Amino acid sequence: MSSPFRVIEGGRSEEPSPGLLIVGATEIATMAGGVRSGPSQGEIGRIGPIPADDPSSADGPVVACWEGRIAAVGPRSKVEAALAAEGYPLGRFARVDAAGGVVTPGLIDPHTHLLFGGSRENELILRQRGAGYMEILAAGGGILSTVAATREASAETLAAHGRRWLDEMLGHGVTTIEAKSGYGLDLETEIRLIQVAWDLGREGPIDVVPTYLGAHAVPAEYRARPDGVEAYVRSVIEEQLPGVAAHGRARFCDVFCEEGVFSADQSRRILQAAEAYGLTPRLHADELVPSGGAELAAEIGAASADHLAAPSAAGMDALAVAATTDRPVVATLLPATTWFLMKEHHAPARAFIDRGVPVAIGTDFNPGTSPTASLPLAMTAACLNLRMTPDEVLAAVTINAARALLLEDEIGSLEPGKAADVVIWKVPTTSQIPYWPGADLVRTVIKRGRIVLDR
Ligand code: NIG
Ligand code: FE
Repeated sequence: MSSPFRVIEGGRSEEPSPGLLIVGATEIATMAGGVRSGPSQGEIGRIGPIPADDPSSADGPVVACWEGRIAAVGPRSKVEAALAAEGYPLGRFARVDAAGGVVTPGLIDPHTHLLFGGSRENELILRQRGAGYMEILAAGGGILSTVAATREASAETLAAHGRRWLDEMLGHGVTTIEAKSGYGLDLETEIRLIQVAWDLGREGPIDVVPTYLGAHAVPAEYRARPDGVEAYVRSVIEEQLPGVAAHGRARFCDVFCEEGVFSADQSRRILQAAEAYGLTPRLHADELVPSGGAELAAEIGAASADHLAAPSAAGMDALAVAATTDRPVVATLLPATTWFLMKEHHAPARAFIDRGVPVAIGTDFNPGTSPTASLPLAMTAACLNLRMTPDEVLAAVTINAARALLLEDEIGSLEPGKAADVVIWKVPTTSQIPYWPGADLVRTVIKRGRIVLDR
């Protein structure tokens, strides 16, 4: 963070002004109007563009923030007139110059495994030689090797790791993430992971939503037992869940519902028990092979079904039906994962969009299948491998990602009353965000009305 905020006119430099007026944008993607699905998946609520060679045009689009909330968005003359009419003190809005860049809501990463010990670059080499992801796991590697390293890691070590990667996410324009546990697989370590995730969110500036993922794999100490999987499922339901619920920090419960890991029946039992404790279900569904995950997500009304690289036809149908209700299941697709696993087959995003299922995109940041913290890189993968348009992808990492976390009333769009989480980009159009893979495209990040990154 170079300076706490950048003021080009008005405001004082010692303390943040209560108001910010973002001027000089070529265009603003407001994402106003709620969750996107079907034909609206690609509607970004664009205001502008104004000619790139005239970013100072008096009537260019602006965003006004007041005390951490969006106050108004639109052409400058209209916004200033509206603010004056509503009695806002215009002199107390510090001007922030977007310098001809595009302005979007802060990005939301709805699926990360933020906290873990160690790293697994050795598996990349094994996979290059033909080893499969499940084969590595069955041999005690994969998730299990990260569990061993994570159990050894102190809360301080995990927090330092988390800060390092959150800082990187912020640099990519991310202002809210979900963070799963799932590398402890015992109550003590799962709670350590959830508590560190919670603490990092409190520390800011990125908001962190903790998810309990005790059913990520069957840990080594249960594998030796003949009834190991079932015994571990019982321990998740009877020991871990009550402890996690009493701890009171996790918002969601997730399960790796996949052939060879947890069956749909076992996943259902865990997620229903979690719901009784007030944890909303979401799940890793059909990541590798059809496993009944999409069907289960629709049946239990999960907030989100994630991965879906290999849903069955019945699972697709179930999500399409859920999409017609007032509680659609978001399909959170993770194209950086299929890319990093060198898969030729990707999630059927076009079919989900055609069938009206709201699509979100996340990084799946984790040490095994997706060691990238860059949501813009996942956006590029969504364009290339899922054949989504840049506008569809932008909705997928803003308003629809907010919905996947049940936060669509608070974040994900630039609408009056919502949190002032805003990104100013160094590129003039939203379609350039996925177009420059790997580049640093973020100029300024505003979190709750405060400039938290400025380059
Ligand atoms: O989303 N598939 C389950 N969980 C992660 C991978 C975790 C790991 O390999 O460490 C995923 O791909
Ligand atoms: Fe994951």
